[in-house]
Amino acid sequence: MNNLDHLDKLRELDPQGMLAVEESFYQQLQQGVEIAGQSDLSKISGKKYSGVVFTGMGGSGISGDIITALAADSSQAPMVSVKGYRLPRFITKDWLVVASSYSGNTEETLSCVQQAMDMGATMLFITSGGRLEQLAQNYDSVSAITVPAGLQPRGAFGYLFMPAYLALAQLGLLAVKQSHIEEGLEIVKQLSSQYNRKVETGKNFAKQVAVNIGDRLPLVYGQEGYLAPIAYRWKCEINENAKTPCFWAQFPELNHNETVGWERLDKLTKDFALIILSRPEGHPRIRARVEATKKLIDNNLGKVIEIPVKGQSSFAQAISTLYTGDIASVYLALYHGVDPTPVEKIEKLKAELAKLD
Ligand code: PA5
Repeated sequence: MNNLDHLDKLRELDPQGMLAVEESFYQQLQQGVEIAGQSDLSKISGKKYSGVVFTGMGGSGISGDIITALAADSSQAPMVSVKGYRLPRFITKDWLVVASSYSGNTEETLSCVQQAMDMGATMLFITSGGRLEQLAQNYDSVSAITVPAGLQPRGAFGYLFMPAYLALAQLGLLAVKQSHIEEGLEIVKQLSSQYNRKVETGKNFAKQVAVNIGDRLPLVYGQEGYLAPIAYRWKCEINENAKTPCFWAQFPELNHNETVGWERLDKLTKDFALIILSRPEGHPRIRARVEATKKLIDNNLGKVIEIPVKGQSSFAQAISTLYTGDIASVYLALYHGVDPTPVEKIEKLKAELAKLD
């Protein structure tokens, strides 16, 4: 029996309960929907925006990446996601600036917010507190959505993502169908019972993903559109929860460069596990590329793990595939006896930078 089927061991290895956070992802998404419904957007409603710019880093910034990708199929408003200190020059005061920071204290995000305030832009903040919450009290054109505190930012995805996504729908900047939200939540609900710790590895796909990665170096291949930020999220979750190096790329772009790179170092790459987010429908040329790529590089790899993307709507596909990666990365941590919660290196870095102030 491995760690994953040993309930006492799981509790012991995970004192801060990251697995429980993942097991209740469905409930958190539901709460995210409720928070969105209770939000007061009156200060930012009724305006005509030239576009939407998201600013946020890491676990808080991923929402902007996913919304931007989902919006590409359903919104006429340009949307961009900024991961750094500066807003691009083309952002003017007519853009809506959505700042997402779970702590409310992330310096890159605050720097973009300062620029937006200097130009008099309208803003939406999603935060659990910190400096961002304070700034909202002194600036007129901002609505702030406050979400429950006390989690790791990556474990608060449902709180950060749903209110941002649904607020944009409420503002008329994004077309969101209720039936798609229902479909996504229903699939997550089903998956969360299948992925529950009590379901043994033989029947638990999320545990199987972790076991199949094992000691191999994971590499995640997404595809153009919303499965690109989902692949990136898988990578980040494996990094942060399992404290494991992980890289990602997306079809079709990877076929124009990365595919060639499998020619050398095969002794090393035999220890890689390639995770492919695989959509049964979707662009036929992408499907053909996935199959052709597997044939080309299969001999150089230790393992190929295909993740079947579930659901019909893009929202359901994105959210359920994200969920599988989130919980599988926690199982990967626990499989190796690693506590999934702490992110000491991020904290050390932030502390080092704070000394420079
Ligand atoms: O997962 C993490 O802890 C990080 O990626 C943080 O999300 C990131 O450093 C930004 O912090 P915050 O989410 O508080 O804005």
